[in-house]
Amino acid sequence: MTRETEDGSVYGTIFRRRDTRGEFTGEPIPEEVLRRVLSAAHAAPSVGLSQPWDFVVVSDMDLRKRFREHVLAEREVFEDRLDVERARVFANIKIEGIVESSAGIVVGYDPARGAPDVLGRHAIADAGLYSVCLAIQNLWLAATAEGLGVGWVSFYREEFLRDLVGFPGNVRPVAWLCVGPVRDLPTAPDLERHGWRERLPLDAVLHYERYVSDG
Ligand SMILES: Cc1cc2nc3c(=O)[nH]c(=O)nc-3n(C[C@H](O)[C@H](O)[C@H](O)COP(=O)(O)O)c2cc1C
Repeated sequence: MTRETEDGSVYGTIFRRRDTRGEFTGEPIPEEVLRRVLSAAHAAPSVGLSQPWDFVVVSDMDLRKRFREHVLAEREVFEDRLDVERARVFANIKIEGIVESSAGIVVGYDPARGAPDVLGRHAIADAGLYSVCLAIQNLWLAATAEGLGVGWVSFYREEFLRDLVGFPGNVRPVAWLCVGPVRDLPTAPDLERHGWRERLPLDAVLHYERYVSDG
């Protein structure tokens, strides 16, 4: 671990943050900590100040088990598309910590909030969705600063999760976040550790004045 990942600065938290699956202890999240983390999410910027997010905290183990069964079925759907070599690598990768974490936080996107005159969304409908992702990132960083792990699960069909948590038809589930205390946070992403894919160097994605293709 480098010095920059040890300190409590915003950079320290950004570089310490990890998608967490296998390190949850299952201990409860203190109520005041959960409120702080959710307050950080709710402090995110949003297009037209629409604040189009909703958070459903799921502690109930039956609900979590039902979601996990669905996720495992979707894991198989994905696995079936892989060639033999990729399937072998994928088999070693854990993609969720739904029941091992302390709670799930389901984040929803409500495009009707603040509509129809959402300032800044008239030309780019996705700007609402971008706002929800910023709330999730705030939550993720705040949780990291609190010593909690967060794992984003997206192996699900939106209709299934919408029904499971009772979102109305217009609210789009954007994430199931597994949240809770962790033994530690790995220094490298799981996908790198398992040889699935590596983080690109900054210079591979950085352009000046105009986009230049590298291939
Ligand atoms: C939109 C989104 C969806 C993701 N879905 C999953 C998922 O379903 N399962 C999983 O294990 N990780 C998921 N991740 C985590 C990524 O795999 C992880 O962020 C990436 O490998 C980099 O690792 P790091 O977050 O630890 O830096 C998701 C991340 C994002 C941003």
